[in-house]
Amino acid sequence: MVKQRVLLLGATGETGGSILNGLLEDTDSFDVEALVRPASTGKPQVQELSKRGVKIRSFDIGGSVDDVAKSLTGVDVLISAIDAMSQLAQLNLVTAAKQAGVKRFVPCGFITVVPPGGVMLLRDNKEEVYQLVRKLHLPYTIIDVGYWYQISFPGLPSGRVDYALVKPLDEIHAEGTAPNMLTDLRDVGRFVALIIKDPRSMNKYVACYGDVLSENEIFKIAEEMSGEVISRKYVPASEITATRDQYASAFKASPGDFMAQFMVTIQDYLYSKYVRGDNTPAYAAYLGYLDAKELYPDFRPRSFKDFMGDLLDGKAAKPYPHLGDWRDFAASKAE
Ligand SMILES: NC(=O)c1ccc[n+]([C@@H]2O[C@H](COP(=O)([O-])OP(=O)(O)OC[C@H]3O[C@@H](n4cnc5c(N)ncnc54)[C@H](OP(=O)(O)O)[C@@H]3O)[C@@H](O)[C@H]2O)c1
Repeated sequence: MVKQRVLLLGATGETGGSILNGLLEDTDSFDVEALVRPASTGKPQVQELSKRGVKIRSFDIGGSVDDVAKSLTGVDVLISAIDAMSQLAQLNLVTAAKQAGVKRFVPCGFITVVPPGGVMLLRDNKEEVYQLVRKLHLPYTIIDVGYWYQISFPGLPSGRVDYALVKPLDEIHAEGTAPNMLTDLRDVGRFVALIIKDPRSMNKYVACYGDVLSENEIFKIAEEMSGEVISRKYVPASEITATRDQYASAFKASPGDFMAQFMVTIQDYLYSKYVRGDNTPAYAAYLGYLDAKELYPDFRPRSFKDFMGDLLDGKAAKPYPHLGDWRDFAASKAE
């Protein structure tokens, strides 16, 4: 089989790190390279990539289209897992990828299923990128993954899962009944590896998930498996909507403010997942997504219970470990 040369943007990040692992599990199919911005080449995480045998291509994606296209020479599949706040930085890359003859571009999707058009600012920023892709006839696949298990579990009174909590979670939103597609972050890359060698996913959207659970079900599983009783703060739908409106106004007043954008992103997720109930397999099918469970019936993603077992055994990893508390995370990105 001819190997595909895959260039991955974001290999040092959470989503990109998972994608890298998934691709490296299948070296018969892929030659994997990492796209690293020049300012980051000295980072220890980048040196780790080299130690794992990953070739580094370092260039500025904001450079001239000609230069970026030259830097993409020989790339079959270009995958972007750029951070949530930097989606529009991909626009230049799209034009360059078309010029370079990239055979498949996977723009940075990797979020929940949500329609474009005013529901979620993050989704609308991604849409701008997708529209340019389609305008240029660049072959593409858009992959969404639901919400990570790693940021969907509640804290426990004993504090035994605090080591893996990005943000303390004790809230139940809009009565906790809305089902949501959820995925173990560790499986994102394994899904991507299957999808990018599959001709059926060309110029399509694919929805991936390990489980579909409501918050009530998540809390129940966490209580049953831990033997602990978890307190719940109920946040009504009206409050979610009002808070979201408040942050949207603050962002409108200062559109360049990173923190305002970050808070809008968090509130939009709550509104979409729990008030609108967008992130379900049925809605994904309605929007035209292929379902990864149907495409790959032999692939068994980790269940939420599998993840909870690892979490309770002390074997889960906290996302963004270098950033500590989520407030520090937001502040660091704002710098
Ligand atoms: N489904 C979910 O539950 C969920 C949760 C979180 C995030 N996401 C989504 O996943 C996607 C990726 O987010 P993430 O949080 O995984 O990202 P992340 O951990 O913040 O990593 C971002 C990566 O992008 C790289 N990068 C940023 N700007 C770059 C540039 N100009 N040139 C080259 N590389 C650049 C960073 O490299 P450096 O090392 O140079 O900084 C880093 O490797 C986003 O769309 C986000 O919305 C989904």
